[in-house]
Amino acid sequence: MSQTHILAIDQGTTSSRAIVFGPEMAPVATGQQEFAQHFPRSGWVQHDPEDLWATSLATAREAIERAGLRAGDIAAIGITNQRETTLVWDRKTGRAIHPAIVWQDRRTAEICARLRAEGAEPMIRERTGLLCDPYFSGTKIAWILDAVEGARARAEAGELAFGTVDSWLIWRMTDGAVHATDATNAARTLLYDIRSGAWDPELCALIGVPMAMLPEVRDSAGDFGTARADLFGGAIPIRGVAGDQQAAAIGQACFRPGMLKSTYGTGCFALMNTGETPVVSRNRLLTTVAYQLGGRRAYALEGAIFVAGAVVQWLRDGLGIIRSAAETAGLADRADPEQAVYLVPAFTGLGAPHWDPDARGALFGLSRGTGPAEIARAALESVGYQTADLLAAMQADAAGAFGAETVLRVDGGMTASDWTMQFLADILGAPVDRPVVQETTALGAAWLAGMAAGIYPGTEGFAEAWALDRRFEPAMPAAAREARLAGWRDAVRRTLTTG
Ligand code: G3P
Repeated sequence: MSQTHILAIDQGTTSSRAIVFGPEMAPVATGQQEFAQHFPRSGWVQHDPEDLWATSLATAREAIERAGLRAGDIAAIGITNQRETTLVWDRKTGRAIHPAIVWQDRRTAEICARLRAEGAEPMIRERTGLLCDPYFSGTKIAWILDAVEGARARAEAGELAFGTVDSWLIWRMTDGAVHATDATNAARTLLYDIRSGAWDPELCALIGVPMAMLPEVRDSAGDFGTARADLFGGAIPIRGVAGDQQAAAIGQACFRPGMLKSTYGTGCFALMNTGETPVVSRNRLLTTVAYQLGGRRAYALEGAIFVAGAVVQWLRDGLGIIRSAAETAGLADRADPEQAVYLVPAFTGLGAPHWDPDARGALFGLSRGTGPAEIARAALESVGYQTADLLAAMQADAAGAFGAETVLRVDGGMTASDWTMQFLADILGAPVDRPVVQETTALGAAWLAGMAAGIYPGTEGFAEAWALDRRFEPAMPAAAREARLAGWRDAVRRTLTTG
C-alpha cells in the first residue's frame, strides 16, 4: 500500500479525534481522547495547550495503528478544529505563554462593551461579518497580551505568535517551519476582512493586536508544510485545514448556494452556503467564510444555538428522568398529545437569532398531569424549534436561496434519534437528510487534504459520492405546525430579558 489513505485530525472542544479515511473516502479507524476543561472563574473556560497537542498526536498515532497502516500509507493530513479558541506562543521555544482561551469564555465581555460604546460594531460587522462578542478570538488575544507581563512588547517585536488551534497544531507538527491558518479560521478572529481576504490593519489597531503575531492565511486545501518524520515514523504532508463547522458543511458537500447543514453536538451550528457574495444578516446571524479553494472564497450565513444535545444530558444528569440518551425518544413518545408543554433551554442564555446572554431556561404549559414524558418531549422538540428559528432568520436574510427543493443535511450525535429528526422535518416543513457517513466534520477535513494530495475527487465528484442514509419527510399538517411554532415563539418571548 502506498499513499492511499488520509488522516483527519478533529481537535474539538471536549475531545480530540483522529480518523483515517480510505481510498473511497470511508472511515477506516478512529482514535479519540477527552481532555480537561478548566474553569478558573465564572465565565472563564481554558484548555492546556499541551493537552490539545498531546491528545491530537496520540489519537492520530492510535488511528494510524488501528488502521494497520504506516506513515508511508498516508497521503496527507487534514486538520479541523474548535474555532476561535485562542493561543499565543513564543516563536523561539514553541511554548504557549498562557492557557488557551476557549471560544465559550466570556472574560472579554467588557472589552466588547467598550468597543460597542465607541461605536465600532458597524465597522466590525461590515468587515468581519461577526458581532462584537467575546466569542471571537481578537479580544482574547488582546486580553492575553495585557495579562502576561511584557507580552505586548514581545508581540510587537515579532517574538510571539497567535494562532487558533489549527495554527498551533501546524506549528508543532512542522517544528515551527509553518505559521499559517486557513480562511475559515481567520474569519472567526474579528481581525480578518472577509471580502478582501486579508488581515485588517485598522481592526488590529482598534482591538490592540500587533500584526507581527498573525499567521499567514491560506486556502483550505493546499500546502501547510510537512509533519516531522519523528512524529509518525515518516514525514506526512499537511494539505487541508478548516474550522470544524465549515468542515462539516464541506463534508456534507454544501457547495451550492442555498445548501445548508446543521450539526447537533452539545450545541447546534447551522451553516448555509450563500455563494461568492457575503450576505449581511439583518437578523443577527453571522456572515462567514465557508471555504476558500483556488483563491476563491465561498461564504455562508451561520447560526449557533447553545443547547441541543446538552438538553438530553440535562434530562439524564440534572433531572434523572432517563438513564441514557437512547431512552429519550421512547419516553417522549409516551407523552400526552393534548399537553402543549414548551421547554426553552436558555441554560446559558440564548444564541442566534436572539443573542440574549442573560436569559435563563423556562418550562411553559405545565399542568397537574405533566410528567417526565411531556418534559422529555419538550426537550427534544426544543432542538427542532430552535433550528426552525435559525432557518427562518436565514430565509429572511437570503430569501432567494430558499426554494421548494431546500433540504437540511444533518450530522452529529443527536441525529441518531429518528424521533428527533422526524420532528425536525415536521416543524421545518422541509425534508431532513441524514448521510451514511456521520463523521461529517472529519470527512470534510479529509476531503480537503485528499483533494489537494490528488487522491480524492474535486467538488463535483465529492458531491456525487455523498450518500444518503435516510430522508425524513415532513408529515405534520401546516396548521398544526403553525400552531406549535406560535406556541414556541410565545414561550421564547416570555423567556427573553431583552423585551
Ligand atoms: O465555534 C465553536 C465551534 O467550532 C466548536 O465546535 O464541535 O468543538 O464544540 P465543537
